[in-house]
Order: sequence, then structure tokens, then C-alpha cells
Amino acid sequence: MKSSPPEVRILANAAAAVPLLLDEVRTLLTSSKSPLLGFATGGTFTAFLQALGHELGAGRIPAAGNLLATHLDEYLGYAPDQKGGMVHELGSACPHLLAMLAKGTFFPVPHDDAPASLRAHEQRLQRAGGVQLQFLGIGRNGHLAFNEPGTPFDSGFHGTTLAETTREDARARFRPAEPPTRAVTSGIATILAAKRLVLCAFGKAKAPAVAAMLQGPVAPTCPASVVRTHGNVLVLLDREAASLLQSGLVGA
Ligand code: PGA
Repeated sequence: MKSSPPEVRILANAAAAVPLLLDEVRTLLTSSKSPLLGFATGGTFTAFLQALGHELGAGRIPAAGNLLATHLDEYLGYAPDQKGGMVHELGSACPHLLAMLAKGTFFPVPHDDAPASLRAHEQRLQRAGGVQLQFLGIGRNGHLAFNEPGTPFDSGFHGTTLAETTREDARARFRPAEPPTRAVTSGIATILAAKRLVLCAFGKAKAPAVAAMLQGPVAPTCPASVVRTHGNVLVLLDREAASLLQSGLVGA
């Protein structure tokens, strides 16, 4: 285990994270010839993705043509063009990612959990040099991607059953249909293999999970706590999400 604890920044508001996340992308593009960036989905990243779309459209991301991209998870049965799915969400916020998908430089998470599909996806990420920078959200229950509480830390890409809080939080995007019950997710070991992790959490509803992640035990009961074993992690919080942290206790 590496010892360097996560760098935690408490921002005035969620909007303040957007320029920092854009800077992460710019830095990534200077660090490697064709770096692989792992996007996260969810409301936490929508403003950033829209801003990235604007910056790319305006040509303000140098060397953007070299970028390779992927993401964390997909609902089972949701093909890239299906509304409600993660690739559809990413492409709606940042259409550039759909152009990358068409070009073959965006690697969608398989929407089936056949072992051969999962293995092929992992191998594709490895052939691309592995994820250099992984963006992450956190669930109210402490999940990381769709690694729900109890998921072993040594997991790779796998099919999973969504927790009830996860389905509840996804309800609005599928209404009037019921939210899906199953998904394919990047595993915790896969996430930890990325060179750098940048995790964002905004809003009061995330405060208990953020406190458990940074100050509770490092254990599968709070999958996100595993980021404390990584060594190159930036955590961006707004004041509400940080409101249950005890000062000075963020440790590796
Ligand atoms: P959210 O989801 O950004 O919609 O809050 C994050 C997550 O569940 O990991």
C-alpha cells in the first residue's frame, strides 16, 4: 500500500470544480502521447462534460485529437445509442465523445456481462496503455462506479446488481419505466490501476459517504474508502459534501 493520502480540496461550490477538472485534462494531454482518460457519469460531472464540450468545440484543449477515452460503467442491455445509458449520457453532454466513439478512440463499457466481452474490454484498455486519469463520483452508499458495498477490492470488470439507493437515485432518468436492476461496472482493482484518480462529491446527500470514504475504515463496506490506498488521488468537495468531515483526520 502506498502511503500518500488523498489531496482533499473543499471548494466554495460545485461550479468551482469545472476549471480544475479541465486543467486535469489539459495536464493529461501534455503528459503522454495518446493518454487514456476514464470519464465518470452522473449529475456530478454534467457541468464539467458540457464545459469540456465547449472547450473542445472552441479548440481550446491542445492536442485533444490524441485523447483516448473510456468510462466506468453501463446498464445491462443499454447499447451506446440508448437513452438512459451511460454512453448516451456522456454523448449528450459532450458530443465530441460520440465522434470519438465513431472513430474508435472512445471505448464503451460492454452492455452485456459475458466473460469474453468483459475480458476484451479490459484487454483493450491495457493495449491503450491503461487508464492514466480516472474521474470518479461516489454514491450515497459509498459505491465507486457500480461497485456496491461488499464488492471485493480485487474485482475487475463484472456484472453487478444495483443497490436500492442506486436505483432510487437513477429513477428520474428512466421514469416512467423502472430503473434497471443490473449493470456492468469497472472493478475496484481496475479503478486502482489508473495512474491518477480525481473524485468529486457535491451536496449534502453525499456527506455521510464522504466522511466514511476519508475517515472511516478502509473496507468493502465503503468501497470508495479504497482510494486511500492509491497514492495519487485528488478529492474535490463542496462545503455540503465536506460537512461531516472532522478536520485534520484525512489519512492514508
Ligand atoms: P451522481 O452519481 O453524480 O449522479 O451523484 C455518482 C455515483 O453514484 O457514483
